[in-house]
Amino acid sequence: MGDNMQLPNYKEAKHRGKENVEKETYSFDDTYRSLGKGKTYYVKTYGCQMNEHDTENIKAMLEQLSFTEIDSYEKADLILLNTCSIRENAHNKAFGMLGRIKHLKQERPNLIVGVCGCMAQEEGVIDSIMKHYRFVNFVFGTHNLHRLPEVLHKAMTEQKQEIEVYSKEGNIIEDMPVKRANSFKAYVNIIYGCDKFCTYCIVPYTRGKQRSRAKEDILSEVQVLVRDGYQEVTLLGQNVNAYGKDFHNGYGLASLLEDVAKTGIPRVRFMTSHPWDFTDDMIDVIAKYPNIMPSIHLPVQSGSDHILKLMGRRYTKDTYLTLFHKMKERIPGVSISTDIIVGFPGETEEDFQETLDLVHTCKFDNAFSFVFSKREGTPAAKLEDATSEEEKNERLYRLNDVLNQYFLENNQKLVGSIVPVLVEGKNASLKTSLYGYTDTNKLINFDGEEDLIGKIVSVRVTESKTWSLDGTLVEGTDKERSASTCSNH
Ligand code: 5AD
Ligand code: SF4
Repeated sequence: MGDNMQLPNYKEAKHRGKENVEKETYSFDDTYRSLGKGKTYYVKTYGCQMNEHDTENIKAMLEQLSFTEIDSYEKADLILLNTCSIRENAHNKAFGMLGRIKHLKQERPNLIVGVCGCMAQEEGVIDSIMKHYRFVNFVFGTHNLHRLPEVLHKAMTEQKQEIEVYSKEGNIIEDMPVKRANSFKAYVNIIYGCDKFCTYCIVPYTRGKQRSRAKEDILSEVQVLVRDGYQEVTLLGQNVNAYGKDFHNGYGLASLLEDVAKTGIPRVRFMTSHPWDFTDDMIDVIAKYPNIMPSIHLPVQSGSDHILKLMGRRYTKDTYLTLFHKMKERIPGVSISTDIIVGFPGETEEDFQETLDLVHTCKFDNAFSFVFSKREGTPAAKLEDATSEEEKNERLYRLNDVLNQYFLENNQKLVGSIVPVLVEGKNASLKTSLYGYTDTNKLINFDGEEDLIGKIVSVRVTESKTWSLDGTLVEGTDKERSASTCSNH
């Protein structure tokens, strides 16, 4: 083991201190500038949008170090896995990839291999990397992304396994370089970490305590995006609704959404929202600004009060439904999507029926459904669990059947209407040439010229499917919508 390695510690990660979170500016040590000269890199990203966005920072840092991106990991001189801990299969995928990389490393001993992201914050994972994956050259955690240049430099010059994982979150780092994956839609972090501690969830341990970015930093990032012609920003956080709570000055997500809308960016999205913190003010702001998309991801997890309590979710089926109906009433045409976990320890057939009942009431526009996955170190991992995997999979299957019915039903209602669409790209295999997303976040395929990519256009919906729509382009781009957006400030 190296002399000054920093390893993750769950006890520390769990701790929520009162110390103030300060702001630091990213600084780059120029002596590292040619570290990757003549070398290529490949970053494989698992998990959520937060991880995807971290990868955009990672790529920019690697390019500061003179590495060049390559699209095949088999040919790369440096492979970095940006990992996810949320469920066991995310773990398995990353370890499977490490297995393949091990063979590559036998053929090419100079290959540099790194692991970062949420798995790097887990004690068990680091143990295993130190014992069984000695070929991994370096590891850094979610709290010290900005230290990649130093960590990598050390690993490459000292020729030993370099592990630097902070268990405590530390400061917010501003002005990290970013290589955005897209030239018309962008992710913008607004809050890091999570203090909710839902009993099944590993995120509060891997991403640390809740810390909001200063509104000035967020707004200036969005203003630059507007200047650069971006059409859409997605404000990111593990629980965006908690934005600003650590400021104790009343400036929260409602105020931020309003200020971001006023920058004139054509589309604002945000995710993910915990139902507990969703205020009436937020609903009113979403309803007021046409450039805040009428699309809300509102994970419910379960429809049974008994299970919600065991999950530590802080709401009941009834209070969720009250919020849900309020959104539907006050935000015209809003689409609401959700996440659901089946097979939480102790979930009975009756509990599961409560979930199905809620789905019949809410008729969600979209949903992600999962079988409960035991995460070591979380309270739910210690709960008694008598239900077989087979039964859990059967519940998932039945749930998906009901969910899918409503996806289709909601899509059918859109047939004949004209919807605004941000054109995202070309279809490789479908008959229609282009695809994009509606304001309500529905995938739509239609024919059009390639130069429409990155623009907002009007499309008439002609056909509905379970997971997508088909449509035809209506003349011209959607000028009306942009104009109405501008009249708002
Ligand atoms: N098992 C299964 N699903 C989980 N999720 C989070 N933790 C777990 C777990 N341990 C799901 C939740 C969450 C989504 C991002 O992942 O539904 O909303
Ligand atoms: Fe996965 Fe959660 Fe980490 Fe995102 S924050 S990468 S979903 S564990």
